[in-house]
Amino acid sequence: MSPRPDAVRGATIVGTGMYVPARVLTNADLETMVDTSDQWIRERTGIAERRIAAPGEASSDLAAHAARRAMESAGLTPNDIDHIMVATTTPDRILPSCACTVQSKIGARRAAAYDMFAACTGFVYGLGLARGLIGARVADTVLLIGVETLSRIVDYSDRNTCVLFGDGAGAVVLRSCAVDEGLLAITMHSDGELGDVLEVPAGGSRCPATSDTVEARDHFIKMHGRKVFPFAVRSMEESLLGALELGGLSMADIDLLIPHQANQRIIDALQERVGIGAERVVSNIDRYGNTSSASIPISLDEAVRAGRLKPGDCVAFTAFGGGATWGSSVMRWTMPAPLGVHAAAHGSASVDGVVRKVGA
Ligand code: ACO
Repeated sequence: MSPRPDAVRGATIVGTGMYVPARVLTNADLETMVDTSDQWIRERTGIAERRIAAPGEASSDLAAHAARRAMESAGLTPNDIDHIMVATTTPDRILPSCACTVQSKIGARRAAAYDMFAACTGFVYGLGLARGLIGARVADTVLLIGVETLSRIVDYSDRNTCVLFGDGAGAVVLRSCAVDEGLLAITMHSDGELGDVLEVPAGGSRCPATSDTVEARDHFIKMHGRKVFPFAVRSMEESLLGALELGGLSMADIDLLIPHQANQRIIDALQERVGIGAERVVSNIDRYGNTSSASIPISLDEAVRAGRLKPGDCVAFTAFGGGATWGSSVMRWTMPAPLGVHAAAHGSASVDGVVRKVGA
């Protein structure tokens, strides 16, 4: 019997993919560019290297690679996609959207396509929107991509920021599922009062591009790192605990936590405050640095392909970013491990029968 048209339905991830550019920028390379050291970068951030897009390679190129891999892992074709959401701070151009360019590159002709501008929290926000669209039957198959070519807006003469960021893309495909599976709860927050702690001052309608803004290097990221650090830890902790509560879960139920990869010290502080062991926390910041909205879907794809998730596991995502924005989500994993991968055993218990609507 087919479901009633108004029956509530859930949303889950049915495919994952990632792509990072080939070029590696090491700490040793950065030592030749600014007054820094491999030791300082590793001790203060945990980063050893990051990927940098090739000349001529833009966000839509990275995104299209990740999208094709996600569709392949879902066993779907571009024609199956009816929504493309791209979370990015570094679209190819201000107009048209990066998502429309991706749509054309992958040939997803049926899809509505648009960008979401929520900095590093973009992917978590995207999960919330996809959950709502699928639940309300506005969409059936959503391609959600987090992509950045931050190297294009990083000032490689500013040691405070240039050591932190990298380029990459991660993608997932979402479809409907039983309401007590897939995305169980999502929290989304922002505070525009904190807009100045992380910004690109010029190039928008407030301060359009002129030769003076270029001269002043105002098209690059400016950040108050010391202000961001405590906010990052506190906001991820609060929103993660909020999502767990909404989902009727506790930290002990979480088999895998995938936090935004901004700084290993932030990840360590978060994991200590919420009381989860490092073996249940994903970290790849040593290899990619901070890839903003791409960091969670890249980490997720690596975890899936390494067999760290099996159906029935609970996975949590948490992020913070410029805006300021922050948010978390918890989901009961439904994707079988890829062929040839045996899911790693995780020791925690799971809770059955918990049903919560997104944001309920
Ligand atoms: N190499 C060597 N020295 C450096 C470097 C560098 N690359 N960068 C800064 N320093 C110096 C500073 O100038 C300062 O020197 P001073 O004491 O003489 O003034 C000293 O190191 C210590 O600086 P702090 O800012 O106190 O260093 P801290 O331990 O806070 O680390 C960092 C800086 C890594 C930026 C940290 O504050 C951080 O990670 N903050 C959060 C940043 C973040 O997450 N940003 C992204 C958020 S949103 C998004 O993901 C887009």
